[in-house]
Amino acid sequence: MPAKVLLTGAGGLLGGAVLPALRARHEVVGWSRSRPAPDLYSVDATRSTEVDRFFDAHRPDVCVHCVAAPDVAACERDPDMAHALNVRTTENVARACARQAVRLVYLSTEFVFDGKSETGYAEDDVPNPLQMYGRTKLLGEERASEVPEHLIVRLPVLYGAPVPGRGLGWIERMLLALSEGRTVELDDRVERQPTWTEDVAAVLEEAVARRETGVLHVASRERLTKLAWGRKLAEAAGLPGALLRPAPAVPEGQEVPRPARPWLLTDRLEQRGMRVPAGVSHHVESYVRSLPGPRG
Ligand SMILES: NC(=O)c1ccc[n+]([C@@H]2O[C@H](COP(=O)([O-])OP(=O)(O)OC[C@H]3O[C@@H](n4cnc5c(N)ncnc54)[C@H](OP(=O)(O)O)[C@@H]3O)[C@@H](O)[C@H]2O)c1
Repeated sequence: MPAKVLLTGAGGLLGGAVLPALRARHEVVGWSRSRPAPDLYSVDATRSTEVDRFFDAHRPDVCVHCVAAPDVAACERDPDMAHALNVRTTENVARACARQAVRLVYLSTEFVFDGKSETGYAEDDVPNPLQMYGRTKLLGEERASEVPEHLIVRLPVLYGAPVPGRGLGWIERMLLALSEGRTVELDDRVERQPTWTEDVAAVLEEAVARRETGVLHVASRERLTKLAWGRKLAEAAGLPGALLRPAPAVPEGQEVPRPARPWLLTDRLEQRGMRVPAGVSHHVESYVRSLPGPRG
């Protein structure tokens, strides 16, 4: 059923894909803080008065909250910033949602888990984040769950369309380097579940329409290291994958602690009759074709 949806973080990596997916079926009002566009509102989600004023003026039925600080290293360097964007913004929208009986969809991460499980994590497994990003996202989950009708969607590492004004992402930098004959080092130790933002957007749209609640893992089932992912991208782009090398291990104590096996199990998504996102192997050619530049 069509709803009036507030999409926060509409200018970000995920929000940029979610905006058109929601607009296909719902009335959407979106926020973008640093890149105000004619069809988006500039709201500082860390300021509760701005958030309340917006809710009072627009009275949405649902809020999909994509504002966050998803850079793991930046969160570790600047815990105040991590708390402001991952916790306080969620607290502000959650309070406004509870006040106006608005449904809240909160986006979370596989980094709420410690990665010690050999088999992966279901929605009811106990979180144990290892770093500031995971800890603040978990606090965000707690704030979101105070809204009577809420959905918490945990996601793995995402890839998607380049975000305007943000410079090149790691995939574009890697493809550029390979096209210039330079070697690139990529991690070959941690297997993750890279998932296309378009697939997440489709699930979120369906979840909003069906008024899904609780906690839901949305992730592709294909697990691969960044090096294996990079090789697939290089092959799809017709570039020499032989120039990709395993990155040396970062000396202990010098890197932010990250889960060794941050795997989200998606049985619940399937049980609820929703499509589990396809993996990198399935999407890689169309993804590379979708990138701007000589390969696009
Ligand atoms: N990226 C991943 O691989 C990944 C993996 C797992 C989970 N997630 C989760 O998915 C969600 C979306 O992440 P993302 O990768 O799309 O993040 P992103 O690209 O960094 O987008 C976050 C957005 O937050 C907005 N924002 C920042 N400060 C703000 C403020 N004070 N007020 C209002 N808006 C503000 C920014 O808006 P402007 O750009 O318009 O300023 C930005 O577009 C997050 O909850 C994240 O934790 C992401």
